[in-house]
Amino acid sequence: MRVLVTGGAGFIGSHVVDALLAAGHEVLALDDLSTGRPEQLDPRAALTVADIRDRGLTALLGDLRPQAVIHLAAQVDARRAALDPAQDADVNLMGGLNLLAAAQAAGVERLVFASTAAVYGDPQRLPVAEDDGCRPLSGYGVSKLAFEHYLRIAMGNGGPAATVLRFANVYGPRQDPHGEAGVVAIFGARLLAGEPCEIFGDGAQARDFVYVGDCARACVLALQPAAAGGTFNVATGHMLTVLELYQRLGRLTGSAAPARHAAARPGEIQAICLDASRIQSSLGWAPEVDLDEGLRRTVDWFRARSLG
Ligand SMILES: NC(=O)c1ccc[n+]([C@@H]2O[C@H](COP(=O)([O-])OP(=O)(O)OC[C@H]3O[C@@H](n4cnc5c(N)ncnc54)[C@H](O)[C@@H]3O)[C@@H](O)[C@H]2O)c1
Repeated sequence: MRVLVTGGAGFIGSHVVDALLAAGHEVLALDDLSTGRPEQLDPRAALTVADIRDRGLTALLGDLRPQAVIHLAAQVDARRAALDPAQDADVNLMGGLNLLAAAQAAGVERLVFASTAAVYGDPQRLPVAEDDGCRPLSGYGVSKLAFEHYLRIAMGNGGPAATVLRFANVYGPRQDPHGEAGVVAIFGARLLAGEPCEIFGDGAQARDFVYVGDCARACVLALQPAAAGGTFNVATGHMLTVLELYQRLGRLTGSAAPARHAAARPGEIQAICLDASRIQSSLGWAPEVDLDEGLRRTVDWFRARSLG
């Protein structure tokens, strides 16, 4: 298939490009390079530097003629979304709608959307299943959930057959350690550099950490006809506390420095993990890289980068 990956120069996007190429697809990437890095994109994927909010997107997609779009381009910083929800909605909702209209006009058949566990808010039970109800606590979660609904409506009106993937906390090589999103990347890079790490509150917050290569594989599987119209969690179903994560990364990096504890962040969800049985039974996806292996690969990557 001829597949366009928006956000293709980003952390997850660049791995999705790799997985698509490995599966034999023809791959195009679109990214405004606001956080993406072209040097991590496989050169076999032609990169178009463009903003998903650009009015010229319809003409652009008309020229590129993708059969499928995997939409990962986004404003991904939940703290920034809290400070400036209009900016978040401008990229994640208005940009998404602009892309959707362009995809529809260009006759795109399939669209896979990278959504998030943030759509659920504070879970009523663990692990959270797709139908458990969504009550996002952040502007980021609201804009992602709203776009899920727009996709569903568009599909009923002749739009592309859409698949929603709700990722848990994704980690792995190429994650930006300077952003706000990835605690594994932040701790890993700082521990290797001998810099102090900060844990908000007591570190008992627990999250579901899923390896980026597994998420990329889920994106490729989501192109199959059986995935059309579906919403799927992409997660391990297991939880690790931030403190445990810090200790594991300390052992892997050889750093014994204790973390500093800063004030807890108000409104932070205490514990969340997602039930991934639907994607397992429908698409045959299961995580293949366990936490030990995934953290080791991530630390190795940061170590090689700091030496290079
Ligand atoms: N990392 C996670 O834990 C996680 C969890 C759940 C969902 N997601 C979703 O996965 C997707 C990828 O996230 P990521 O972690 O790889 O972040 P990332 O910042 O590395 O990737 C986002 C990419 O989108 C590009 N981009 C941003 N705004 C754009 C715009 N207006 N036009 C075109 N390109 C634009 C950026 O340059 C970047 O390359 C996002 O949609 C994010 O919401 C990520």
